[in-house]
Amino acid sequence: MLRTLGLFLMAASAAGLGTPAVSQPASSSSAASSAAGSGASLFDEQCGSCHTVGPASDPLAPTLKGVFGRKIAGRADFAYSDALKAKGGTWNQQTLDVFLTDPASFAPGTQMYAGAPDPATRQAIIDYLKTVQ
Ligand code: HEC
Repeated sequence: MLRTLGLFLMAASAAGLGTPAVSQPASSSSAASSAAGSGASLFDEQCGSCHTVGPASDPLAPTLKGVFGRKIAGRADFAYSDALKAKGGTWNQQTLDVFLTDPASFAPGTQMYAGAPDPATRQAIIDYLKTVQ
């Protein structure tokens, strides 16, 4: 599935569809499919330096595979900050939106200091995270 997605993304970027959707008018159906692809590339650009969506967490950051619907700070293979462990609840549209708007406001003391403050970028990334189950 990841391999398929990767090949799709390579094909999409070869076809010029890898341009971030935020810079394109959202007026045609091709813009919509481009937005789906760009969630993955935005993730790679803005989150991929720390996070993967692989089966296991990296020492740097928890894997985000299956994060949508997962308990906050819920992976046994990552040493979360006390701040995030104390939050409780699950990652859903609302919690991800608030966290990624400003991680330090959501969980003061979190080790994640960079979010995705731009709303369109943030939503494209959240939509992408829903697909990596
Ligand atoms: C500089 C490294 C870094 C970057 C860049 C980064 N993160 Fe994180 N992220 C972390 C760390 C470290 C944690 C664990 C935070 C803690 O324990 O307080 C984390 C935690 C998370 C969590 C909670 C996961 C869980 O298992 O509870 C989510 C969701 C998340 N990041 C999403 C993102 C997204 C989406 C982006 C891109 C917009 C991003 N992160 C960018 C380092 C990073």
